[in-house]
Amino acid sequence: VTRPVPVIAIDGPSASGKGTVAERVAAALGWKVLDSGSLYRIVALAATRAGVALDDEAGVAAIAASLPARFEDGKVLLGGDDISTDIRSEACSVGASKVAVLPAVREALLGRQRDYRVAPGLVGDGRDMGSVIFPDAQIKIFLTATAEARAGRRYKQLMEKGLPANMQSLLDDLRERDARDAARPVAPLVKLPDAVLLDTTELDVEGAVAFVLDLVRDRGLAA
Ligand code: DC
Repeated sequence: VTRPVPVIAIDGPSASGKGTVAERVAAALGWKVLDSGSLYRIVALAATRAGVALDDEAGVAAIAASLPARFEDGKVLLGGDDISTDIRSEACSVGASKVAVLPAVREALLGRQRDYRVAPGLVGDGRDMGSVIFPDAQIKIFLTATAEARAGRRYKQLMEKGLPANMQSLLDDLRERDARDAARPVAPLVKLPDAVLLDTTELDVEGAVAFVLDLVRDRGLAA
């Protein structure tokens, strides 16, 4: 009897800290990690560079289907270019949420995401890990925090990097993206009935990671 490779699906809104939590949990378990949001970011950047409009569904889907992107040593490479910093810009965040509404683009990225599911296990973070990509995930987590807490964390990160930051515009951008991610007809962000709610408004990264690792042990997925 072969048991399916275990998956922890972590879904939640922008800037909730899911990426950091997913990485730390994967490192603690020695599992692979899938940052699915980065795929939508890479597609948005590649489309922009190719001069394809972000609402040209067929054009953007063609780019998504043949994306020459790789993840190497913590870097994101497109062709030979290191785009790790570029894909984190606010412009790219907005672009990603625009291409993410296009069903043909999501379809084009489906197989690529499922290929990450290899032994001993996978931690995937995004919006539809538990609903569409890995509906049979052994653990589903809805990781969230209030918009104010999330904007506050972004603000602190930008200040620490010496980058310009405005609390009100960060909050407005987050709310606009939340609305777009939750209102789209295809694979909207939802808290699934079988997902565990993890609210990090008052919880730090260590606390969130410990919470997930406890769940993994409770469900007998790792020692
Ligand atoms: O998680 P993130 O902020 O890097 O995601 C960037 C955008 O991509 C975000 O607006 C929502 C979208 N996204 C998605 O639609 N489905 C996913 N599985 C991951 C991200």
